[in-house]
Amino acid sequence: MTRVVESVAELAALRSVWLAQGLRVGFVPTMGALHAGHASLVRRARAENDICVVSVYVNPLQFGPREDLARYPRDLAGDVKLCESVGADVLFAPRDDEMYPAGFQTVVDQLHLPRLLEGKARPTHFRGVLTVVLKLFNLVRAHRAYFGQKDYQQTVVLRRMALDLHVGTEVLVLPTVREEDGLALSSRNRYLSVKERKDALCLSQALVAGEALIRSGERRGSAVTHVMRARIERVKKAAIDYVACVDPETLRPLKQVGATSVLLVAVRLGKTRLIDNSLVML
Ligand code: PAF
Repeated sequence: MTRVVESVAELAALRSVWLAQGLRVGFVPTMGALHAGHASLVRRARAENDICVVSVYVNPLQFGPREDLARYPRDLAGDVKLCESVGADVLFAPRDDEMYPAGFQTVVDQLHLPRLLEGKARPTHFRGVLTVVLKLFNLVRAHRAYFGQKDYQQTVVLRRMALDLHVGTEVLVLPTVREEDGLALSSRNRYLSVKERKDALCLSQALVAGEALIRSGERRGSAVTHVMRARIERVKKAAIDYVACVDPETLRPLKQVGATSVLLVAVRLGKTRLIDNSLVML
């Protein structure tokens, strides 16, 4: 049975008991509308720890003024069901006034990583992510936290934050879960019309094309992104935000592809913005 906790005080009381009993806590932070990608994170947290906490909080601080905060999918009943089916002990679903009480003004930011890639279209996004995740880490005090590789830049930014700020929670990244046809699972996929859902395959197909080119011996980053771009441009309605071939840690564009690189794409289909990536290890 998953216990739904809405208040910080109730979570703190539970956490004190777990710590006193020497239990290891695994944590999966989410914004809800949970799907099979989240389920894979919860299963892993469940398997590697004594207690598994999932948070569901649509964090207003990580949405820009013209983004989809108001229409972001919310389905707490469905989230509770999924958490129960995969054995989560606690679903922490705090209210806005618990997370950002009146007078709140402290934020967490980084010097460089948040300005790249996603940061160009979403300049305040990672400040919001860093702030809420550090707050959640402080509240849950988990031994390990689990994130999906689908938000690749987010995982790099959060790992850096954990290192820089001596956060005692280990950040683990699990592979992207995909539909059979390759589309990466995302809560935002529910926005897509039938036509857009078909068109959305251009993201994973561009990544496959880019990776195939690297594996065939191409080393010029620009040639790889050219092929990826061309694949996406076959879809008339797809508007490219970025197509990139970058260093996995610095996220800087690679002139020459080395042993490890990350290919990333961000594409708008109608009102929906989708991202995907592929880590290429030679
Ligand atoms: O990846 C997400 O769902 C969110 O960015 C996160 C990490 C839960 C922070 O709100």
